[in-house]
Amino acid sequence: MENTKWVLASRPDGMPSGQNFRLEREPCPEIGDGEFLIEAAYLIVTPPLRMWMTSGGMTGRPVPLGGTMRCGGMGCVVKSNHPDYAVGDLVSGDLGWQRFAVSNGRDRTPVQRVKRRDGVSTTALMHVLGSGGRTAYFGLTEFCRPKLGDTMVISGAAGNVGSVLCQLARMQGCRVVGIAGSRQKCDWLTGELGCAGAVNYKEEDVAERLAALCPRGIDIFFDNVGGETLDAALGLIAQGARVVLCGATSQYNHDGGWYAPRNYFNLVYRQAEMHGFFVGNFAGRYEEAASRLAPLVASGALKYAEDVLDGLERAPQALVHALTGEHFGVQLVRVSGAADA
Ligand SMILES: NC(=O)c1ccc[n+]([C@@H]2O[C@H](COP(=O)([O-])OP(=O)(O)OC[C@H]3O[C@@H](n4cnc5c(N)ncnc54)[C@H](OP(=O)(O)O)[C@@H]3O)[C@@H](O)[C@H]2O)c1
Repeated sequence: MENTKWVLASRPDGMPSGQNFRLEREPCPEIGDGEFLIEAAYLIVTPPLRMWMTSGGMTGRPVPLGGTMRCGGMGCVVKSNHPDYAVGDLVSGDLGWQRFAVSNGRDRTPVQRVKRRDGVSTTALMHVLGSGGRTAYFGLTEFCRPKLGDTMVISGAAGNVGSVLCQLARMQGCRVVGIAGSRQKCDWLTGELGCAGAVNYKEEDVAERLAALCPRGIDIFFDNVGGETLDAALGLIAQGARVVLCGATSQYNHDGGWYAPRNYFNLVYRQAEMHGFFVGNFAGRYEEAASRLAPLVASGALKYAEDVLDGLERAPQALVHALTGEHFGVQLVRVSGAADA
């Protein structure tokens, strides 16, 4: 067996491209005692991968030049010297942009066994019941403190985290307004996902549209994109608002300096709060999120969209799509049929 992997060839200046990566082939890695070999089935390509290429994000440790590009994914155990992992187990974690990965179940982002659930597809286990869904779940339950009738605005609303959150917040009795980057995505938000309104930030003035859609101000702003969108929302917060910082996708290509919000003093005028959070701090409660979300997915109450690019060789293209919004739904790359039931 041969392994194929994308390594980082150079660091990008602004938007990354295929030129920043190099496809390499090597013999399939051997496993030692206490290790197992995973064959990747799907990778989930999201905006923060861009930070691994330069700053390393919150770890401060970027992927070294020549190193395998990092990425969350799902796959199957195909060889095992580990007492707790058997051939055929479905696992997820940081598999990287490669066909085969070796793990001991504890390293970097620990690879974890994934429980199959009735009525939930293999890929949905990875996003709605995985990183995106649990980020939405803990962001909402721990930081948003929604009240019946609250107006909640969500940026990156048609994305992995945002689309789950729009629906959970609506189920909690919030009036949800989503911000997304195309007419098609905005129609999906107000149609399928039940948002009360949507703003197309690429074609509309965000502050003006939000003011029209939120006449009594914004009670909760959940931010996935940062920059000018965060600023526009800060300008419209209501008394006692909660501003929850989840991501800053609009800034990840700006290695030279991030946009600083000007309207932050509204937090004082409105006696509001702004709180950042990291979903990894809830690792001990992931099962709680998955078990709450699973029946909603199985019953069809929680909807999602996926955009699947076929073949590991398309991973760089998937990253560009995640950073430009060219995709519709969670951006996945199908690497192999290893997890097909
Ligand atoms: N705090 C945590 O623990 C945590 C955990 C997971 C994720 N996150 C963060 O949450 C955010 C969302 O993650 P995700 O996985 O759900 O990604 P995602 O939203 O599924 O995918 C990226 C989306 O971002 C939008 N986008 C791209 N460039 C943009 C720009 N310049 N301005 C505004 N929107 C832009 C695009 O949608 P449009 O077409 O609508 O532009 C694109 O579809 C990311 O910033 C991520 O880093 C944080």
